[in-house]
Amino acid sequence: MKQRRLRVGVLTSGGDAPGMNAVIRAVVRSALHFNMRVYGIRAGYQGLFRADINEMNTDDVSDIIHRGGTILRTARCMEMISDDGQRRAAEVIRAMQLDAVIVVGGDGSFKGALALSKLGIKVICIPATIDLDMDCTEYTIGFDTAVNTAAAAIICIRDTSSSHERCSIVEVMGRNAGYLAQWCGIAGGAEEVITLENRIDTKSVMEQLMKNRSRGKRHHLIVVAEGVGGSNELAQEIERVLDIETRATVLGHMQRGGTPSAIDRMHGSIMGYMAVKAIKEDDVNKVVIYKDGKHDLIGLEEALTMRKKYNPEMYDITKILAI
Ligand code: F6P
Repeated sequence: MKQRRLRVGVLTSGGDAPGMNAVIRAVVRSALHFNMRVYGIRAGYQGLFRADINEMNTDDVSDIIHRGGTILRTARCMEMISDDGQRRAAEVIRAMQLDAVIVVGGDGSFKGALALSKLGIKVICIPATIDLDMDCTEYTIGFDTAVNTAAAAIICIRDTSSSHERCSIVEVMGRNAGYLAQWCGIAGGAEEVITLENRIDTKSVMEQLMKNRSRGKRHHLIVVAEGVGGSNELAQEIERVLDIETRATVLGHMQRGGTPSAIDRMHGSIMGYMAVKAIKEDDVNKVVIYKDGKHDLIGLEEALTMRKKYNPEMYDITKILAI
């Protein structure tokens, strides 16, 4: 008798992250390699509620490895927060006879996957967020591209800032996490990085600027994390108190777009393959992670209990290098 082929669903959820397409490509092609059928669920968990699900083949993922965004589209799905929504999502997965679902996204998306796993659905999660705010893994797909995009913008702002002898404030994304801001600060040669984690207040910023000025610095660069916000107000305050011409730039969603870096394409490809392999081996309800230089799997429930610790040394290095 012919053996039934395993049926795997894949969805991308939450904020898009460059490299998600590399994951989708790897999932589809690895699944076909292992003789599975693979189904793309569109617009994150919403695709389950709208039954917007289609079988995918190798041609569907041709020529996408280098494309930003996600061909499956994505969404933040409020229905997945309620018990009722989670139950309905599990019913659709059963009705579609999906043996497992691969969820690509951040910890909000993983919470939805955990709820599904508790309802008997087999899931595998792949971390993809530009925020790098997950403790279970040292890398989240999209971060490298976003740092490079934001740092490139900061370098452009640096040119005009130095020409005009101004103070420039650049606000970068990251929701409540300051990793993107901290990395951009060091890579952009900023004098100051303000994040929710380091709690640098306006008074310290002013003191820093005065010190910079007395040392002969003619332009100043401050990176502000999205979670802190208030860049325009800070710019006005600096102008008012120190009489230094100041401009604020909020980089916004441009940081999430663009061609994924080779690092994101690489992690995306390997993690996509590993997710499918885990399903083949029935090693499910796991997260594919990158730790200590290698890819691995960790329990989903455990992954969601882990809290990333702030490393104050990164900030200290920013200050040492800014003298
Ligand atoms: O989680 C990724 C992220 O880009 C955060 O850095 C940011 O706070 C948020 O998404 C923005 O979300 P939205 O695209 O819904 O405005």
